[in-house]
Formats: sequence, C-alpha cells, structure tokens
Amino acid sequence: MPDIVQLLPENIANQIAAGEVIQRPASAVKELLENAVDSGATEIKLIVNDAGKSLIQVIDNGQGMSETDARMCFERHATSKIKNIEDLFHIKTMGFRGEALASIAGVAQVELKTKKAEDLTGTYIEIENSVVITQQPVATPQGTNIAMKNLFFNVPARRNFLKSNPSELRHIVDEFIRVALGFPQIFFSLTSNGQQVFHLEKGSLKQRIVQILGNNYSAKLVSVNEETDYMNIYGFVGKPETAKKTRGDQYFFVNNRFIKSAYLNHAVMNAFSDMIAKDSFPMYALFIDLDPSRLDINVHPTKQEIKFEDEKIIYAFVQSAVKHSLAQFSITPTLDFDLDASIQQSDAVSQPFTEDKRSAASASSLYKTFTQKHQAHFIESKSQLKHWDEDKSLVNGQESFSVKDFEKEELKSFDIENNFLELKEIKKATGDDLLQIHGTFIIAQNQKGFIVIHQQNAHERILYERFVNALKDKPIATQRSLFPATIELTASDCVLLNELLNDLQLLGYLVEPFGNNTFVIQGTPADVVDGNEKITIDKMLEQYKHFSNDLKFSKREKLLRSMAWQRSIKPGTPLSQKEMRGLCDDLFNCEICNSTANGKPTYLEFKKDDLDKMFGK
Ligand SMILES: Nc1ncnc2c1ncn2[C@@H]1O[C@H](COP(=O)(O)OP(=O)(O)OP(=O)(O)O)[C@@H](O)[C@H]1O
Ligand SMILES: [Mg+2]
Repeated sequence: MPDIVQLLPENIANQIAAGEVIQRPASAVKELLENAVDSGATEIKLIVNDAGKSLIQVIDNGQGMSETDARMCFERHATSKIKNIEDLFHIKTMGFRGEALASIAGVAQVELKTKKAEDLTGTYIEIENSVVITQQPVATPQGTNIAMKNLFFNVPARRNFLKSNPSELRHIVDEFIRVALGFPQIFFSLTSNGQQVFHLEKGSLKQRIVQILGNNYSAKLVSVNEETDYMNIYGFVGKPETAKKTRGDQYFFVNNRFIKSAYLNHAVMNAFSDMIAKDSFPMYALFIDLDPSRLDINVHPTKQEIKFEDEKIIYAFVQSAVKHSLAQFSITPTLDFDLDASIQQSDAVSQPFTEDKRSAASASSLYKTFTQKHQAHFIESKSQLKHWDEDKSLVNGQESFSVKDFEKEELKSFDIENNFLELKEIKKATGDDLLQIHGTFIIAQNQKGFIVIHQQNAHERILYERFVNALKDKPIATQRSLFPATIELTASDCVLLNELLNDLQLLGYLVEPFGNNTFVIQGTPADVVDGNEKITIDKMLEQYKHFSNDLKFSKREKLLRSMAWQRSIKPGTPLSQKEMRGLCDDLFNCEICNSTANGKPTYLEFKKDDLDKMFGK
C-alpha cells in the first residue's frame, strides 16, 4: 500500500481554519477592526455593503506595513504581535495568533493598500483564495486600507448559511459597538450601503456610551471606579430606573477586550438585586484591567471567552465595586461593599506577583494549554457555580412565568382577612353588573360560580387575534397624523425597526425612515391616543428585543406578541361598565379565550360547588 497521509494545500487549510475564525461577515469586521486598533490608529472607518456580504472595508491611519510585511501578513501564523511563548503572558494587543488575515484571504477576494509613515510609496496587494494576484507600488496615505469582497465566494455552502441582510447587519453593528466602546479615544465611523450609521468622535468613555446607547443615558450613568494592586475596575452602570426588559446593553471588557461571561454578569445582577424588577436588566459597560499573566485569552477561537487565574476574586471585586458605586450615589442603602475578608486576605490579592510565582505559573496546566491553539476548553468551574444559569431563564422571562406561579400570585389576595370584604363586594355584583377590583381584575358572576378576569391578559389575547387577522387579510386602517412625530433611535434599533416597517403598516402604523437614525410616524391606528405613538413604538421595540433570542418564533410572531402586550390595558386602569362588558364580549369571541399567546391565563374560574366544599357544606 502506498503512503496516504499528505499535507493539505495551503488554501484548503486556510479555508478550514477560517471556519472557526470567520463565521459570518461580523467576525471579519471584528478581526479587521481589531487589527486597525492594534496598528495604533486614531481614526478607523468601517464601510460595508449588503451587510458585509459583498464588501467589508476598514480604513485606518495607523502604522501601516512595509512591502514585505504586507505580503507576509496573509501567511498563516504570521504575526508581529508575539515572538515567543513568554509574550503570551503579556498580551496587550487584540490579535496574537496570526490567523485572521490568512483566514480572510482564504474565503474572500481581498485588496490591501498600506503605507508606513517613513516610506514614500505604499504597497497594493490583491489576493484571492490565498493566492496573490497583483502586487505593486501605490500612492496611498499612511495607514492601512483593506477591502474584502464577496465573502465565501469560494465556499457556497457557507454563503448559503448566511442570514438575511438585516440580521447580518445587526451582528456587524454589535461587533462594531463592542470595539468602539472599548476605545473611546479613537474616532470610529460605520457606513452601510452608502449611509452613515455611526460617526463617533473621540472623547471620554461616558461620551462614547451616550453616543452609542442613546441620549437617555446621559444623566443616568453611575460611575464605577475601584483600584487595587490586583486589578482595576472602571466604567459605568445605568441607574436602576434605566433597567430594561432586554439584556442588550451589557458589556464587559477585560484589558479592553469585549468578553462574554455569564458568571461576571451574575455578579453585577447580584449587586443590583432588590433595586430592579426580577426580569429586567441594568445597563453596564465595565472595564477590568489586570496583569495579562493572570488570564488566558486563548481558550476560544474568537477570544470572547477568557479564563481568569482566579475568577472568584474577580466576581467579588465586580460585585463589591458595583455595590459601592450604587451606594455612593445613594441609590442603595447597603454599605456592605467591602470585599469578603477571606478574599481580601488571600495571597493572590495581598501579595505582589513575584518572579517565583511567574515560574510556578508557567509550570501549571493553564500555561500548557496556551500552546494548544483552537482547543476550546471552557471555564470548568461554571458547573460548580450555583445559580449562575438562573439568568438564562430570564431571557424568556415572560414565558417562564408559569400558570402555577400565576395562580399562586392571584390566590394570595384571597387571604382570610380580605375574604369577607371581597365576597361582600361580589355579592353586590348581582345581575349584569361587572365588578372591577384593584384596577386589575374583573369579577363576573356566572351560573356555576364566578370568574376572575385579568384585564390586561384578556386584552392582550383580544389584540393578538385582531393583529393576526390584520396581517392575514384585514389590515388595520391608518389615520394620518396632522403633526407627525419623529422618533430617534440608536443605530442598532434602527436596523431592527427597518425590518418591521412593512408589517407595522398592516397593523396601522405608517412609519418612514428619515435618515440619521430618525423615523417619522406618519400615521397610527385610529384608537391610539395622540402623543402616545412614540412610546408605543419604543416600548414595542423593547419588548421585541426581549423576544429576540427566542429562535422558535418568526419575526412576525415576535412583532404580534410585542405589539399585543404593549397596547394592552395596564393594571391600575379604571374601566367603565361598558368597557368591561366590551372586553368580556371580545374575549369570549376569541378563538382561544383562556390564555394569552404567551400562555398566561386570561381568567380563572371559581365553582360554587367547590366553594361550598371549602366551607364544609
Ligand atoms: N491594519 C493593520 N495595520 C498594520 N498592520 C496590520 C494591520 N492588519 C494586520 N497587520 C499586520 O498583519 C499581521 C497579521 O494580522 P492578523 O490579523 O492575521 O494576525 P494578528 O492580528 O497578529 O493575530 P490574530 O489572528 O489574533 O488577529 C499583524 O500581526 C500585523 O503585523
Ligand atoms: Mg488580527
């Protein structure tokens, strides 16, 4: 038998490796932006066409590359950022693997123009499928201008897996925001299909947060700032009243690198506990700086998960720092923000990191794993962390509120003290009269006993069915506004709203893009109170995002549910006899009348026979 083991051709090896590094346009955006940041640029411009599918271009004014480097940078494992294994412990740059450009050149057509300050001319390189097609001198300003065209042109299977443009653009915006938040001292812009989506002037972190997340945060940020020998933490958290139903605006950076950590998120949530509703999420942008030798960035191909030398310490720090800040701003009365005594005294915190320790560390298993590129080993201790995954259920907050919970809540009000009073009230509700209590429930007597209708849930069901019909074949009429309201959104919300405009029109909302992250509400359904249209759209988007992680629902379904919830009458709204009657009639005319689309009951039934039994009759 002849030998059969062969080395893969370079372009195929690059394509395979790209599978991990470049999964979608947004991953290429992240890699190119990070290279621009590493180049020391003070201005970085991102241009995308067709949500990055046909073009992703990043222009920076950083240090640029020499002719040889421009050629070398597309080679696998070619990097200027580390030289030896020791350097891995001091990584201050975003990149270090020398993989990104090799991967990108394996799956797209790339054009690079680059020049160093001291060179007279720059270098132009065209590379496709890992093969250099053109290389020549070019006149170009200092810095690097790299354009990747037709992503996955040579891997159709991957290209077909890409989502719709709005959805891919949303991922791009997310990655852009993560890099731009990490470096407020750098100017960033994002242009999509010729329209500028972001224009972020250099400034302070606070300014950057407000530029990106919206003006409504400007007076609502609490600064966090704690410095110790072990680590520093700084940044901002939103005041409790800004907590939202979606966890969108939550950012952790470790040494300026955006990371995802359910564990650290839990630390912040803990610091906020009791100050915000259970199913809401505070905004935060928190930066942890610590000695790079105390963490391993190389545990995940996209570097978004990292491993800390001692994550319990980090958890305690984050939690106490946030509590401290909230306390200082007299938002919380708690003053127990001191670090846990046992953690305070631990060697890692109280003693400096010596050479001895460094060499001990290099013998550890953590050190060894550094050399195993792409071996994604996840943070093992996660499984030991009690409750950390509780947060996950909150993603579906509304869903997770079960019928049982609901009954428990509702029945609580039927305690002995109140029973007498309420039954007396109900007795008054003889004949056709309906009774509203607590501005929330409607009590109606029927032959078998009585039912308690939850007015909001009932209304949500009614609206949901009306909206389903509207999208099917009975569009809701729009009443044109005499004075159309404009609504200004964050860039990522704009992308989202754009996706919904057609369906919104069927629901009676005529909303038109007006450029610069602004929309004009030209008309609303006749029954929307004037002046409320802005809030309706805002809150609807908020709720829509709340559903966004739920893949089992289509966009339309999410919109229907969000809109039905948003428009439903809220608890505490007094209703006239006629309104209550209308609500009951509409409810019982619904196709499914006993629960909302999200599965919450619309009414509970109490049978006279059962009541009799309870009273020993
Ligand atoms: N915008 C840029 N300006 C200057 N040099 C650049 C730029 N982009 C890439 N380079 C050079 O090309 C090299 C290769 O880039 P590449 O992104 O492939 O690897 P890396 O950034 O070193 O590591 P990683 O794969 O982790 O991103 C970099 O180390 C850097 O020297
Ligand atoms: Mg890189």
